[in-house]
Amino acid sequence: MATMTSLIGLINKIQRACTLLGDHGGQGMSLWEILPSVAVVGGQSSGKSSVLESVVGRDFLPRGSGIVTRRPLVLQLHKTESGTEYAEFLHAPKKRFTDFVAVRKEIADETDRITGKTKQISNIPIHLSIYSPNVVNLTLIDLPGLTKVAVEGQSETIVEDIENMVRTHVEKPNCIILAISPANQDIATSDAIKLARDVDPSGERTFGVLTKLDLMDKGTNAVDVLEGRAYRLQQPWVGIVNRSQADINKNVDMILARRKEREYFETSPDYGHLASRMGSEYLAKLLSEHLELVIRQRIPSIIALINKTIDELNAELDRIGRPIATDGGAQLYMILELCRAFDRVFKEHLD
Ligand code: GDP
Ligand code: NA
Ligand code: MG
Repeated sequence: MATMTSLIGLINKIQRACTLLGDHGGQGMSLWEILPSVAVVGGQSSGKSSVLESVVGRDFLPRGSGIVTRRPLVLQLHKTESGTEYAEFLHAPKKRFTDFVAVRKEIADETDRITGKTKQISNIPIHLSIYSPNVVNLTLIDLPGLTKVAVEGQSETIVEDIENMVRTHVEKPNCIILAISPANQDIATSDAIKLARDVDPSGERTFGVLTKLDLMDKGTNAVDVLEGRAYRLQQPWVGIVNRSQADINKNVDMILARRKEREYFETSPDYGHLASRMGSEYLAKLLSEHLELVIRQRIPSIIALINKTIDELNAELDRIGRPIATDGGAQLYMILELCRAFDRVFKEHLD
């Protein structure tokens, strides 16, 4: 079945179409809610940005102390067969970024554009697509880190505001939760696990990710967590070794970082027996497979929704009258055609 990878590629297209649809009434939102995505959740400095970057295989996220991620970042990864990697923002659709330093700057600038240069947060997402032969097809959402105290310049409600924003994303039944916990802290105190347990008590859509295994005290290990005994989830736990701050300062690239991570597990006396199920590459593969499974289960309801949208758009076009003279009508017509195309392709996937 050659269609599985393209299926997720299609979903990525639909999610972009949804944003368009969203401008023309309520339909966009409901389509969005039916589609699965992966949200990265965890305390500040737990390693969220690092995990995202290793799944993507690229450096592109803004860094710094404090709350760097202040708007949700909806990141769509599109696997290409070959060619150069590039990125595109929905807010600047005609601009192709091949320099990932510029991508990082654009995320930071676009964050400031809405929040000002304050330390405030905003619920309005930034949409970024990355096209690369080195990624798997996946939609990821980076969210601000959960925190316990407000810092100077932040409103007193910031702790609550961030938790509410994260909660809004992860409480959707179609959200796959990447719950990031650092291995050098007690798992019982993990902000990510606490929130995940709240919104997904059965643990069916939560992937436990344990970072900073290399930073654990000598003589201790996380085998109990990684084998699911310390905190049981229905999905497997994945251990990760990201780049340290020293690695980042030395500009250790992602490809080298992945190799070092693989070597870490393969040569580890504690985790050697788990090596094939550890690391960021394995995590990316696991997520992609899970997503495909979930999407396949949802195809019938997606078709129903697209057809409802087609009916609504047809009614709207009848109301404003065809043939189309106005810009608004032409745009609606384009979206209608898009929906019809999606409908056809989805029906093919059902066979
Ligand atoms: P975020 O705030 O959750 O996005 O966390 P970051 O990904 O920015 O990581 C915070 C700091 O921890 C950075 O200095 C990273 O280099 C470091 N870090 C993250 N994961 C690991 C890890 O697995 N091992 C080591 N040694 N350092 C890590
Ligand atoms: Na950080
Ligand atoms: Mg971060």
